[in-house]
Formats: sequence, C-alpha cells, structure tokens
Amino acid sequence: MLTKEYITELKHRGNSDISALVNTQRDVSTIVFILESLGQLPSDFHADFLYNLLKHNHAQVRLHAVKNIGKLNGRSDTKPLLALYQHETDTGVRREIVSAIGRQRKCENKPFLYEFLNDSDPKIVCQAIRGLLVFENDKEIEEHLRPLVNHENEMVRTVIYKEYFAKEKTKKTALPHAETYDFLKNVVVNADVLEVLKFVPEESVHLTFTSPPYYNARDYSIYPSYQAYLEFLDKVFQETCRITKEGRFLIVNTSPIIIPRISRAHSSKRYPIPFDLHPYLVKNGWEFIDDIEFQNAA
Ligand SMILES: C[S@@+](CC[C@H](N)C(=O)[O-])C[C@H]1O[C@@H](n2cnc3c(N)ncnc32)[C@H](O)[C@@H]1O
Repeated sequence: MLTKEYITELKHRGNSDISALVNTQRDVSTIVFILESLGQLPSDFHADFLYNLLKHNHAQVRLHAVKNIGKLNGRSDTKPLLALYQHETDTGVRREIVSAIGRQRKCENKPFLYEFLNDSDPKIVCQAIRGLLVFENDKEIEEHLRPLVNHENEMVRTVIYKEYFAKEKTKKTALPHAETYDFLKNVVVNADVLEVLKFVPEESVHLTFTSPPYYNARDYSIYPSYQAYLEFLDKVFQETCRITKEGRFLIVNTSPIIIPRISRAHSSKRYPIPFDLHPYLVKNGWEFIDDIEFQNAA
C-alpha cells in the first residue's frame, strides 16, 4: 500500500522515481494522494511530470499539480501555467495558477499579474494584488492598483483602501486620538453639509450621526434623480470618512421609502435606500458593524 513515508522517501531520492510512480497510476484519487503527500520539494526535485499533469483531464489532478509547481517558487516555469490559465474553467485551478505565478516573485511576471486584475473572479484579483504587493514602493504597480479602490467587489476595495488610502490618512493625523480642535466644540452650524465639512480637518471627529433626506419623500431638498441623490450622499460619506478618527463611528438614520404614484395610470415606487447606500459607504472606507452603524475602516 502506498504510504506518505514511501512518497517522502521517493521524493528525496533525487531521481525520477516519483514521476515514474505517478505515471503508472490510473486511479485519480491515488494520483491526488501522491501529489498531496509531497510536502516541501527539495531543490533537485524533478518537476517535469508535474507540468505533464497540467494536461490531465481531471481538475483535482491539475489543481494539485499547480499547487506543487507553486512550491518551486522562483524555479517554476510560468509559460505552461499561463497556457493553462487561458482555457482552464475550474475555479480552484485558476486561483492556484495565479497564486503559483505570484509566489515566483519575479519582476517579469508583473504584466501577467496586471492581466489577472481584470479577472471576473474577485479571489483571483486578490491573489494578483497579493503577488504584486510583494514588490514594495513600485510606482508602476501602485498606478495599476490604486484605481481598484473603486472595484465592484468589496473585498478588493478593502484591500486597496487599506494598502494605499488608510496609510495616507494615518500619516496626516495631527492630534492625539482623544483630542480635537476647540473651534469644533459646542457649535451649531446652519449650512450646506458639503460646504461646511470643507472646514473640518482630517480625523477630528469621533462620532457623526446623520439623518439625511429620504430622497424626494419630503420637500426639504429636491434631487433630479435617485442616482443624483445617491451621488450626493456618496460625497457626504467621503467627507465624513475623512474627518473621522481612526476606528470611530458614523450612524446613518434612514429607511426604505415609497414615492406615491403620480396618477392612477402609474404605480408607486419603493426605494430601498439603506441597501442602496451600502456600496457607497463601503467604497468610501466605512466598515459595516450594525444595521445602522459604520466604523471608519482605517
Ligand atoms: C430626514 S431630515 C432630518 C431631520 C433632522 N433629523 C431633524 O430632526 O431636524 C433631513 C434634513 O437634511 C436637511 N438637508 C438636506 N440637504 C442638506 C444639505 N445639503 N446640507 C445640510 N442639510 C441638508 C434637510 O433640510 C432636512 O432637515
């Protein structure tokens, strides 16, 4: 019976015994067992058979072949991995390919990692980001990564925000956490929120409670469209995040609303405001902690 100890012994022989063993197997679960049992690969490991397994018709075999190729780090060959990525349909294999290429830490791989940033699988995008972030203080990489703060996926946005934007914010902090400016204390201001927030310095506020308009449900403000309303609040959330101290809070008081029908020929419309506001809050650096509260993610 095939045991882990036997596989380890073959692995260290430094010849092609392990590939001979794999090549004589017909049973997929046995091949997977051998590949899973390989562990760390010695520097003189004969890896050719792993590249051959990239063509295997069983996804689990391809996955473990890529995993082991990934363990070769800088010694692995990028070309067959890229060729497989072009037509691979299995999610796990695709992610493993990106991870293996990232682990090589080779400058010449940067264009491939940029390409992976366009993948529709957010986990692949995150793997590619991880692979790129190992190159520190690289302006070209920063130019590719920064725009992803507006990526449609929240995981991607958070990674980029923490890497580039939260650090900048922290650098700007002028006051100790528990203190703020005297001119902000005990004042009531009657003004347009976006105008007045311009005068509030970065990281000077511990808590914001806002009860913004419910779109056009009341007449105190009229927005030309629901999109225009969301964009207005987008700017407010961006500003509140800027003025909020690290780890402190924003409470948004809002609810879904119904705009009544304009005539019998039309129907009323329900707007799920809290739900629609979420992406705008998260995009601006807020971390959701409760139904109504957000914490500055910096
Ligand atoms: C849902 S109500 C909240 C009312 C408030 N909670 C109160 O008890 O008075 C929204 C308020 O936001 C105000 N508002 C609308 N647009 C504004 C803006 N751009 N800047 C400042 N306030 C605004 C409206 O006049 C309205 O009083």
